[in-house]
Amino acid sequence: MTARLISLNPHDPDPRVLDEVAAILRRGGLVAFPTETVYGLGADASKAEAVARIFEAKGRPADNPLIVHVASVMMAKRYASEWPELANRLTEAFWPGPLTLILPKRPVIPDLVTAGLPAVGLRLPANEIARKLIEHADLPIAAPSANLYMSVSPTTAQHVAIGLGERIELILDGGPCAVGIESTVLDLTGEVPVVLRPGGVSLEQIQRIAPEAVLGGGTVEEGARVSPGLARRHYAPKTPVRLLDRAMLLHVARDADQAAIVTLGPAPEGLRAAILREMPGDPSRYAAALYATLHQLDEAGVREILIERPPADMDWLAVSDRLQRAATKA
Ligand code: TXA
Ligand code: MG
Repeated sequence: MTARLISLNPHDPDPRVLDEVAAILRRGGLVAFPTETVYGLGADASKAEAVARIFEAKGRPADNPLIVHVASVMMAKRYASEWPELANRLTEAFWPGPLTLILPKRPVIPDLVTAGLPAVGLRLPANEIARKLIEHADLPIAAPSANLYMSVSPTTAQHVAIGLGERIELILDGGPCAVGIESTVLDLTGEVPVVLRPGGVSLEQIQRIAPEAVLGGGTVEEGARVSPGLARRHYAPKTPVRLLDRAMLLHVARDADQAAIVTLGPAPEGLRAAILREMPGDPSRYAAALYATLHQLDEAGVREILIERPPADMDWLAVSDRLQRAATKA
């Protein structure tokens, strides 16, 4: 099987195509579709057999829960058994958009979706194709990033085709993802809201609505409260990745003719490498380019990817988190 690729206008997707694709979801099939963060691999979240196919296609372990995508707040409330006042304020501020809320689940969501946990991740994506597809299907859509387990998330339909093209039926192409890294996962089931995964909405933005929100931070190994299944090594290219500050980068680059070098902003004069990539100096624009850059450099056949470490500021948290994981050895 090779996946069929269908292009859709991200601002005005053809409703006939959406109907056809919604029918695939209704009979339990898998569909890759764009969201504003990364491409997702979707299936009917209310049907355990359909959800099982997601785990199978990705090679994802069953202890890693999936996010359920909805088309409205009203729809989200059908899957959450509690809806605190804070959820209203957060969804008003950030939905549709890259924020996933963890809330106690209702029984309609099979345990397979949440990896046996009593809470479910809910997200209303901003991408028009994603939202309209959910509306047409009139189903909650479970969707992890549309990549093989442990590899770099896809931000184009081509990335999906390379990773999963032989394992799924259909890929909707809506062009490159605008945000470029995954949603922020915010757990609302405890005493205070906890960011389990930094992402498209910053902690600072969340704290404007919920000043008491904290960062889960740390790693599973350190016993920190992070999302289950958030393996340390994740989002990782096959090529080894090293994160270095600029002084170290300059030092190592003397001997880097077989390596790709990724700088933050313009590269220093005289820096030589097999491939040189200058990334935007702004965290949002950097995030939007990150995965495509990693995919590209991974395909380029270099021995190593050397990446300049971004500043330790909160602004860079989500990008730094992904880079750290890319650089962590298996
Ligand atoms: O931006 C995104 O969130 C993308 C797009 C497709 O929406 N999806 C995505 O899914 O990144 P995935 O499966 O690659 O990552 C989901 C993250 C994981 O870290 C998982 O552990 C966490 O969300 N998560 C999902 N459900 C959870 C739950 N019930 N409790 C705690 N963490 C949960
Ligand atoms: Mg993922």
